[in-house]
Amino acid sequence: MRLGINIDHVATIRNARGGIHPDPLKAAKIAEKSGADGITAHLREDRRHISDQDIKALKENISIPLNLEMAATEEMLEIALDSKPERVCLVPEKRLEVTTEGGLDLLNLTNKKESVVFDIIKQCKKSNIDVSLFIDPEIKQIEVANSLGVNIIELHTGEYCNSQYKIKELKRIKDAVIFAVDNNIEVHAGHGLNFENVKEIARIKYIKELNIGHFLIGESIFMGLESVIRKMRYIIDTSQ
Ligand code: PXP
Repeated sequence: MRLGINIDHVATIRNARGGIHPDPLKAAKIAEKSGADGITAHLREDRRHISDQDIKALKENISIPLNLEMAATEEMLEIALDSKPERVCLVPEKRLEVTTEGGLDLLNLTNKKESVVFDIIKQCKKSNIDVSLFIDPEIKQIEVANSLGVNIIELHTGEYCNSQYKIKELKRIKDAVIFAVDNNIEVHAGHGLNFENVKEIARIKYIKELNIGHFLIGESIFMGLESVIRKMRYIIDTSQ
């Protein structure tokens, strides 16, 4: 199971002062040497954390794959084709949300949005950029993802992480994983994961990648980034 480190919140801290410190690229390099298999960064439309320049710097200076999270818009497609990350992950974006609150609702895409999603999938494939869709763990969402022709999905684990009814939420995730794998779709997962709640998710052996950010960056204040990533890596490996 690969571990992708989301470094957005290094940029959140940097931007709080409007300067250049702390540098997300430095965090990415530490992640790389601490056992991360990839770097994830979300270029939001409002640029509240990661900037266009960060994406360029990451792409030019890291040797593990870059997973660019972005909204399904024409502007972002242009940036993706220009910066050529190894993968783009399409996420929903609402201006006032503090984080990505749910997955893309593929069942209720407007015609215009659907054609942009389709165009992103087509153009990225042409440029050898993998495309993943961030969706809730629901069979119906996966059916639409399948019909759109994507071969990777990332399941939103936020509800599982926040819920008091973990067994029920875990079952939803497991059912979704099995359905996706049966349809030859590679499954990733992420959102809200920490040292504790990651264990059950890491036991789902068909999940190929976890993307984790906020907890790790927060905890690195106390433990240091290298130690926190190594500990997460260890927990994931020993949970399987
Ligand atoms: N995966 C996706 C698609 C996300 O949007 C996010 C949050 O930016 C994450 C994973 C990581 O979530 P967290 O920061 O809660 O670990």
